[in-house]
Amino acid sequence: MARTALVAGNWKMNFDHFQATYFMQKLAWLLRDAHYDFDDAEIAIMPPFTSIRSVQVLVESENMKIKIGAQNVSEMSGGAFTGDVSAEMLEKLGCSYTIIGHSERRKYHPEDDVNLVDKVRATLAAGMQPILCVGESFEERRQGIELTYATNQVADVTRDLSAGQARRMLVAYEPVWAIGRGASATPQDAQDAAAAIRRHFAQAFDEDVANDVRILYGGSVKAANAMDLMAGPDVDGFLIGGASLDPEEFSKIARIV
Ligand code: G3P
Repeated sequence: MARTALVAGNWKMNFDHFQATYFMQKLAWLLRDAHYDFDDAEIAIMPPFTSIRSVQVLVESENMKIKIGAQNVSEMSGGAFTGDVSAEMLEKLGCSYTIIGHSERRKYHPEDDVNLVDKVRATLAAGMQPILCVGESFEERRQGIELTYATNQVADVTRDLSAGQARRMLVAYEPVWAIGRGASATPQDAQDAAAAIRRHFAQAFDEDVANDVRILYGGSVKAANAMDLMAGPDVDGFLIGGASLDPEEFSKIARIV
């Protein structure tokens, strides 16, 4: 079965509810002017928690088939966890995806593979799909161990999942050295990493799971490099940061995928 391409915009800590409303209105106009077919690929927006409802209002009012995701999720499911948001709450809010283990969260928060597994399980149990972020730093790439590093990150989080759970996962290969730098990995780098991650799922689970898992690339994706980055047979789309804050740029990438 062909995998549905996904163009996901990770807004990070940007766009209050006014800016989110403006962005979504502009995106609706641009996609309508381009006669965009929402069945061609899947678009998802991951706003800050505070802007999720604003995005949803425009998705509904402009009749866009755009999914919503959360940039983080608690592994807990209610109770005395101040400041946390559970997977059940996000699902009830209308989220379809959660970003798990983004390099910026691994850098600034105590996120280790143990609690990432619990976040993946909580996301799946709530009926959403986790997007597990993996990717090497300059040091691992200098040592030439980038593919092993990324597949080990995937293995650390997925080794105790069932095949049914694993097949619903997405993985975003985001080499840390390419994030926010303007210079992406090469299309061959992206394809090589996606192929290695897919091979890992085939070996750890089976070919069906490996074929179902969608693998995204992230790290300085722009309209100018999206076509080449998407050419890899194992690349199923993008997790986009900076370019997802510009409605023109984001709509161009969505139309390319
Ligand atoms: O999650 C996607 C993000 O980390 C990529 O950021 O700005 O390099 O597209 P950017």
